[in-house]
Amino acid sequence: MKMNKNLLAIVLLLAIVLGACKTKKTTVETTSTPVVQETTTEDLSNESFVTSEEIGYRHNDLFDEDDLVLEDITFPAAAPGTTTNIDRSFENAPPMIPHTVVGFVPIKAASNACLICHMPAVAVAMNATSIPKSHFTNYRPDVVEDDGLFKVDAKEGAVTNKDLGSDLNKARFNCTQCHVTQADISVFIPNNFNPSFRNEGDAKKSNLNETIEEGVK
Ligand code: HEC
Ligand code: HEC
Repeated sequence: MKMNKNLLAIVLLLAIVLGACKTKKTTVETTSTPVVQETTTEDLSNESFVTSEEIGYRHNDLFDEDDLVLEDITFPAAAPGTTTNIDRSFENAPPMIPHTVVGFVPIKAASNACLICHMPAVAVAMNATSIPKSHFTNYRPDVVEDDGLFKVDAKEGAVTNKDLGSDLNKARFNCTQCHVTQADISVFIPNNFNPSFRNEGDAKKSNLNETIEEGVK
């Protein structure tokens, strides 16, 4: 028993000495001269730096707009119903607006012309595609208080799917936030993206409300 106590004392002593050594080592490290990355004027004038003319896509001096000539962009001028729809950019991408939006924008809280033709109740009569079910669904879970903590009321691995009936989800009210007209313009930015649609017809219509849980479960 006595032996054990002595042994314990030695072990403790060793631990303290070792601990002290460690602390000392740390002190030495912190007091060593910090490595400061020096920035010299030479570095900034390095030829490999990108100039302000090269930063943007418009290749113009960003600090001087005097010589800036914006390209004459043409947006569709044709009235709704007289145009051909544009294929989706990828599966369930927001379709582009094929018709003019002159007179329909800006969308305001009290006036949204898009609804006049695209609300499900009138769309058929107007020959327009109906606003899809996804826009009448709330995918955002509620926030609930639980013992002073706020958490989302959602199960792990499940999509919250609250059917709003015939009420348009207000988060979808500002249509042009996602749907835009296609400008008739050629861009010099290369793009090799090729969409691959899983089902025939997916380039012309959407089905997000049915497929939204894919990859979540
Ligand atoms: C006067 C009626 C009318 C108004 C107002 C209108 N649209 Fe349309 N819209 C149509 C018609 C008709 C078509 C062509 C047929 C169709 O919907 O597929 C169309 C097509 C579209 C399409 C293409 C649908 C697809 O499947 O490719 C989108 C997107 C669209 N409109 C969005 C809008 C938005 C956003 C607004 C408001 C800024 C708006 N529309 C205002 C009648 C209208
Ligand atoms: C937050 C982005 C967003 C907003 C805002 C939004 N949409 Fe969409 N919309 C989408 C996406 C993404 C799709 C394709 C997937 C889907 O069906 O939800 C779509 C699909 C559509 C379609 C095609 C439906 C079909 O069956 O092919 C129409 C028409 C449409 N939206 C009209 C509207 C109108 C009108 C508004 C404004 C009241 C609006 N959207 C607001 C993102 C949006």
